[in-house]
Amino acid sequence: MVTMLPGVIKKEVNIIVRNATLSDLPNIIMINRETLPENYPEWFFREHLEKWGKAFYVAEIEGRIVGYIMSRIEEGAAFFKEIFTLIRKGHIVSVAVLKEYRRMGIGTMLMIKAMESMKNIYNCSEVYLEVRVSNTPAINLYQKLGFKIVRRIPRYYVDGEDAYLMAREL
Ligand code: ACO
Ligand code: ZN
Repeated sequence: MVTMLPGVIKKEVNIIVRNATLSDLPNIIMINRETLPENYPEWFFREHLEKWGKAFYVAEIEGRIVGYIMSRIEEGAAFFKEIFTLIRKGHIVSVAVLKEYRRMGIGTMLMIKAMESMKNIYNCSEVYLEVRVSNTPAINLYQKLGFKIVRRIPRYYVDGEDAYLMAREL
């Protein structure tokens, strides 16, 4: 892929998206702290990796972890059925890309890989997430991937901001 990198005009870079491993956790946690106000203890990342690791991915460029997506699998009421139907849902807990590597399609690649695993490995029929109502970049990314706003959750975040619950079928 031809793209802009810091300090470089244009360069071919190889973006690898692969399942996360235990040894990626320090880098994943660093990216999470750098890019999002929602931070979690190390055990929380480890638990997601151990339980739902097939839907936990990292993006790597020239040996550096530049983004991650962490998911969990849940059972619950379908968003897209007229009558109450218990289904398996993929829940995207956290996705982030380092600032210097944004707008290169990495967020999209991570989302697609996680959704493929949710559907093909974990047999999920829907995927959902929460996002700050002010987070236009992320909302645009999700809408581009076919997510719809299901509802608004008042004061979802500790600072009082509302969330959109967004979901799509798989
Ligand atoms: N402004 C408007 N739209 C944007 C922006 C932006 N800054 N960034 C991405 N988009 C939309 C565009 O439609 C874009 O397509 P285009 O580039 O062809 O116009 C589309 O999203 C796909 O963009 P990608 O390049 O695939 O996404 P990127 O790799 O930049 O990652 C992400 C997007 C993950 C939201 C990134 O901006 C980020 O890490 N932000 C900080 C962390 C964050 O907010 N994470 C989501 C929190 S919610 C949750 O985790 C469930
Ligand atoms: Zn959530």
